[in-house]
Amino acid sequence: MKIGIDLGTNTTGQPVRLDLEELLSTRLLVQGNSGSGKSHLLRRLLEQSAGHVQQAIIDPEGDFVGLAERYGHVVIDAERTAGEIQRIAARIRRHRASVVFNLEGLDADAQMRSAAAFLNGLFDAEREYWFPMLVIVDEAQLFAPSGAGEISDEARRISLSAMTNLMCRGRKRGLAGVIATQRLAKLAKNVAAEASNFLMGRTFLDIDMARAADLLGMEKRQAESFRDLNTGSFVALGPALSRRPLPVKIGVVETASRNGRPELMPPPEMGTAELQDLIFDDLGGEPAPMPAPRLQPRATDDILDTLEVTPAPVPVPVDPEAVAAFEAEREALIEEIIRQFVADPEAPFRSAAALYPDFLVHCRVRRIGSRVPDLADFTRRLAIARAGMDGRMEDEGWQRAVEQASRLPEEMQGVFLLLARAGMEGAPSPADEALARAYGSRSPSRGRWLLTYMEERGHLVCEADFRGRRVVRFPTLGWKTAPGDPKAAAGLAS
Ligand SMILES: Nc1ncnc2c1ncn2[C@@H]1O[C@H](COP(=O)(O)OP(=O)(O)O)[C@@H](O)[C@H]1O
Ligand SMILES: [Mg+2]
Repeated sequence: MKIGIDLGTNTTGQPVRLDLEELLSTRLLVQGNSGSGKSHLLRRLLEQSAGHVQQAIIDPEGDFVGLAERYGHVVIDAERTAGEIQRIAARIRRHRASVVFNLEGLDADAQMRSAAAFLNGLFDAEREYWFPMLVIVDEAQLFAPSGAGEISDEARRISLSAMTNLMCRGRKRGLAGVIATQRLAKLAKNVAAEASNFLMGRTFLDIDMARAADLLGMEKRQAESFRDLNTGSFVALGPALSRRPLPVKIGVVETASRNGRPELMPPPEMGTAELQDLIFDDLGGEPAPMPAPRLQPRATDDILDTLEVTPAPVPVPVDPEAVAAFEAEREALIEEIIRQFVADPEAPFRSAAALYPDFLVHCRVRRIGSRVPDLADFTRRLAIARAGMDGRMEDEGWQRAVEQASRLPEEMQGVFLLLARAGMEGAPSPADEALARAYGSRSPSRGRWLLTYMEERGHLVCEADFRGRRVVRFPTLGWKTAPGDPKAAAGLAS
């Protein structure tokens, strides 16, 4: 059902994919203890998507500089002024360059200030450069800590505000936040809460487990399974991943991390005397060792020049079959939510606008994702469902009726479609009360008023037979209802 990026495999060895387009608007949070495989996961995501979307990685440990050689990321050492960093960030957006922002070697305070300057620079880009890009932040709890810690208040404030902007307001500007953290409880709540997609790795502490269960809408008991996850195994959930918790084993990566796990090495087999000689012999004659030469950070102008010539990634290619399947599933979920509204005996008395907030909540719970119908679309769908036509939408005559309804005020569309359906099927004209109900009212006089309104505007013609029963004609559709008693009590629309 997914478009795009291959993350790894599920328990039966099937590929697990990440819908990159959906990710751009719904963001991702990765959580797992140190060594659970978060950085590896981010690297897999970066490698698989490098050709499709612009990327910026905020890299506190210099873990990702290896991407430069293989994928052409520009490495930016953070040791420069805030003004320079912001200028570089602006240039990155203009030229759609993928970069690694390397914060290795800076103290915590400087890391926060640099990351904030960088994020703000990306965020403040001019509107014409709001191209979509992934902004990946590893060890995000460093930049959006939940507690005070030993960092200066000032650094903490600017860094937290930059991270909040990224996660809460970045979407409109094309910035898709992907954040990884060791400890959910150490990450500011508002920053975590903005992600709709989750990859949960091994988690030991109860307090992190509780936060994870909370974010995922799981029972605390279910979240206990996070304790037993192996390195590289995660549980995926969210509109860009899976609508149900899905275990995934992250696949291999092509570039190497510089910070692999240290491996045990037995000490050399040597006698004590021999070692003493090696250490103390001739100490006087030997010059003190030179400190290892530090890599000279590149000059800002040099980086700005490089960014000018970095090729932009090509747009995401989409697999039309996967898109169709994904769309169909989304449509089915939306139809189902709307059917529930129609089945609710109280719902007919509430207008589409009044039901819309509830609808949004249902969409969120069912993980519909970012492409939720807007109010106008919801009104149209609700009108169709209330007319009982959801199964026969493709009918050509019905399409014309829906089209005609769309020229009426939104709240009247359902009434018109209810009448049109009776016309199409040659069923008796609905009673005043039924029309009022489709409008969200209990008053039969409202039903008569609606008919007059639509008749005056040429949508239909009302006639009475010799027994006073109503017949409604639809001149443009060529349909006519059977005679129906306008005063009949309304049953629930079938
Ligand atoms: N899916 C995986 N397949 C193979 N090795 C992995 C996988 N995930 C992590 N590792 C290895 O496990 C170690 C810890 O992973 P890392 O990503 O650095 O963890 P974290 O960032 O969560 O601390 C690294 O040596 C890494 O190469
Ligand atoms: Mg890591």
